[in-house]
Amino acid sequence: MKRLPIVFFVFVFCSLTSVPVPFAAEGNKVLILYYSYTGKTRAVCEVLQKLLGADMLEIKDLKNDPGKVQMGGGKGMKGKKAGNGKKGGMAASLVWDTHIEPQSVEIAPYSHIILGSPVWMGGLSPAIQKCIASNNMSGKKVIILTTSNAPEKEEQQARNADPVKKAGADVVEHYQILAKRKAENKRVDRTVDEMVADVQALLPELKSIIGNK
Ligand SMILES: Cc1cc2nc3c(=O)[nH]c(=O)nc-3n(C[C@H](O)[C@H](O)[C@H](O)COP(=O)(O)O)c2cc1C
Repeated sequence: MKRLPIVFFVFVFCSLTSVPVPFAAEGNKVLILYYSYTGKTRAVCEVLQKLLGADMLEIKDLKNDPGKVQMGGGKGMKGKKAGNGKKGGMAASLVWDTHIEPQSVEIAPYSHIILGSPVWMGGLSPAIQKCIASNNMSGKKVIILTTSNAPEKEEQQARNADPVKKAGADVVEHYQILAKRKAENKRVDRTVDEMVADVQALLPELKSIIGNK
């Protein structure tokens, strides 16, 4: 009986200060790992962090700067294929086996990991691919959240899930947030507010995924 007023006070405090009220079942903790080059994935992940009361870590790519990429033949490609399975052009100029910071992430305390990544050449960004390959995700439930200019095909999503499964995790959902929309015959930028609204709409489903062990 004595604890009830304290719980009530905490709830009211959280509501008034917009501190997220943790909802996950006991023992369920969420970590958002994201890479972002132009800031769109960062924007949606930051909103998710607040809504879910999650921990969040930005993965930095120490090798790729697509704005400065020279077309044709990148050093780090070494016969690797881009996310869409193709070689050559821009894909070959990116360093797929890149260096990231941090390389090792403290994953053990978390039950759920949200991997936020832009789509690059049809697949996850090199930084997120490297992060997956560098960390043991055994037993974790992973949600892949991509931002991209065009909708991903199912086979692309399946390909994105493969390395996560190899890292020992269970891919429980894959969400994509579009950074562009069609206007007449062109693709035009969606606003960050529109992208954020899409993420907010995912909240009930995410809560039910994370709330269930
Ligand atoms: C190197 C590079 C490759 C990209 N490849 C694709 C692609 O294959 N398909 C797509 O829909 N968008 C592609 N994009 C667009 C990004 O996925 C999209 O703009 C994303 O929302 C950017 O996220 P960010 O702002 O977090 O970096 C590419 C962008 C870059 C820089």
